[in-house]
Amino acid sequence: MDDRTMTIGIVIVAAGRGERAGSLEDGPKQYRRIGGRPVITHTLERFLTWSRSGPIVVVIHRDDEALFAEACGKLPGAERVITTFGGETRQRSVYEGLRALSGTDATHVMIHDAARPFVDRDVLDRVAQALDEGQEGVLPAIPVTDTLKRGGSDGLVHDTVPRAGLYAAQTPQSFHLSAIRIAHEKAAALRREDFTDDASIAEWAGLTVTLVEGSVDNIKLTVKRDIAMADEKLSQSTLPA
Ligand code: CTP
Ligand code: MG
Repeated sequence: MDDRTMTIGIVIVAAGRGERAGSLEDGPKQYRRIGGRPVITHTLERFLTWSRSGPIVVVIHRDDEALFAEACGKLPGAERVITTFGGETRQRSVYEGLRALSGTDATHVMIHDAARPFVDRDVLDRVAQALDEGQEGVLPAIPVTDTLKRGGSDGLVHDTVPRAGLYAAQTPQSFHLSAIRIAHEKAAALRREDFTDDASIAEWAGLTVTLVEGSVDNIKLTVKRDIAMADEKLSQSTLPA
């Protein structure tokens, strides 16, 4: 059931430098082209065209204003996008996005990586439904399917980690806006700057985080090869890019 008093704000973090994807030669990965358009154009469009998106904040790097304007300025609905500058870490960039969103009517937030352009409506709907049901925190994830090994610095396999109950975390991770903002503030005050996602900050702060089914397509473009594969996938697709 839709909670009519609920407004889902969106924070897309796009202030990273993409070092593992070879940004030194090719620039930040979120502005690289797949299917003829920058990665971030695909990502933002997914949220601009989702019927339940409230205010949208995109967190960009100070050096990328022109790149962002060129990539997204002409998208239908772009005029409702708020931009703000990110920080040195993903955690810091999310915090800046949450601050910007706090000036809007958003009651809840979905925090998404710009580097995940293939998030689909089904995942967004599942996450929103869990928020509708009153969950404090929601994490889309997929069960781990590879067999997991723990290795040592000696290059040897030490043991096999049972994979039952293990999930690979995706985004958009979603929360009550004030609860996740307070959790981020606490982490910053205690100089805990080592969290790699928002669900781990929420868990650390004592919020309950519920799992919902993610999607195998909702990959994060991390290394060069991911970008080449994403480009191939879109070029082969019969759907418009
Ligand atoms: N991100 C951000 N601010 C940072 C670091 C990361 O907004 N200081 C964003 C990235 O732009 C990306 C998402 O967080 O959309 C996930 O981070 P990751 O895949 O690690 O991207 P980068 O940090 O850019 O890449 P790398 O770690 O390889 O440098
Ligand atoms: Mg990074």
